[in-house]
Amino acid sequence: MDRIRWGVIGTANIATWRVIPAIQKSRNGDVVAVASRDAGRARDYANRHGIAQSYGSYAALLDDASIDAIYIPLPNQLHAEWSIRCAEAGKPTLCEKPLGSTAAETQRMVDVFRERGVPLAEAFMYRFHPRTERVKDIVGRGAVGEMHLIDAVFSFQIRRVNDVRLQPQLAGGALRDLGVYCVNLMRLMTDEEPDRVQAIGHFGAESGVEEWAVGSLQFPSGVLGSFGCGMRSYRTHGYLIRGSEGTIVVQDGFGPNDDQVTEIVVKRDTGKLSETIRIEIPATDQFQRMVEDFADALLDDRPPRYPAEDAVANMKVLDRLQVSMRATEA
Ligand SMILES: NC(=O)c1ccc[n+]([C@@H]2O[C@H](COP(=O)([O-])OP(=O)(O)OC[C@H]3O[C@@H](n4cnc5c(N)ncnc54)[C@H](OP(=O)(O)O)[C@@H]3O)[C@@H](O)[C@H]2O)c1
Repeated sequence: MDRIRWGVIGTANIATWRVIPAIQKSRNGDVVAVASRDAGRARDYANRHGIAQSYGSYAALLDDASIDAIYIPLPNQLHAEWSIRCAEAGKPTLCEKPLGSTAAETQRMVDVFRERGVPLAEAFMYRFHPRTERVKDIVGRGAVGEMHLIDAVFSFQIRRVNDVRLQPQLAGGALRDLGVYCVNLMRLMTDEEPDRVQAIGHFGAESGVEEWAVGSLQFPSGVLGSFGCGMRSYRTHGYLIRGSEGTIVVQDGFGPNDDQVTEIVVKRDTGKLSETIRIEIPATDQFQRMVEDFADALLDDRPPRYPAEDAVANMKVLDRLQVSMRATEA
């Protein structure tokens, strides 16, 4: 076997615009089937996207023995149920972020996959961009001196009426949708879990979810992180890392387009030397790198690059932020 045969559960936007095209141009995988709750929708979707097989239920897709791996882009609240059904069917699963809607739910998912020896990964695509890898590398080699502050932002405007991310019963809200990236980035850059967290949210009168929110995290090393995320605000995403001797600015830090050359700007002042370094990172499809890693893991019989346990730790922080946000709810 040298290529992975992928099945996709649901006809989600993120699958349509990013992940299915990424698998279709990947060097080691093909999308061979899609399932929808509605057979007609599945068939139309399959025809439109050049997918050979369609199913009118998610369970029918799991019964297809020819499928090697499943991609789940369902609303957050359904990730656990359908991932666990994938594990029970013996199907390796790449599931959208956040893997589960709480830490306890995510832990249960990880446990079921581990017990059955089936691979599971969270689809945090930004970690696969070479720019993220480069920032992590230069921070580790002291580019900003001692790291002190990380500021991260992620916002965009949801325009769809009834979008799943605006629905509390589907585990929507800005923290789970966008704050989750900011928290993951801070944990990735520090290699630590925060001691203290705080959050404040603005709740939509109609949606009932936090439509924008801010949060702060304190890490054992002394690093302080702050983030702002929003689902009704102009699209902005990136981060700024500040330390004793320098700063790193990364614009478009989470979701650059795959044809976008991006830049890491490092400014340093060591007392003896003051300099600005611009590191250009070639355009890359981070979704393609993510699906290729998962498929390679299956083909090479090794774990996916980022362990699913990381999602449990990330959700522990998200749960604490939710508690803090509720406590400060106006
Ligand atoms: N990595 C990224 O860059 C990124 C970006 C956006 C979203 N996401 C994540 O991807 C997931 C999906 O987000 P999305 O905005 O793409 O979702 P979406 O377009 O609303 O699609 C969700 C799909 O789930 C299925 N579904 C099953 N039960 C549903 C229900 N009760 N209500 C609505 N849909 C239901 C539907 O497919 P059928 O009706 O065909 O069964 C629908 O097409 C979320 O977890 C989100 O956090 C990730």
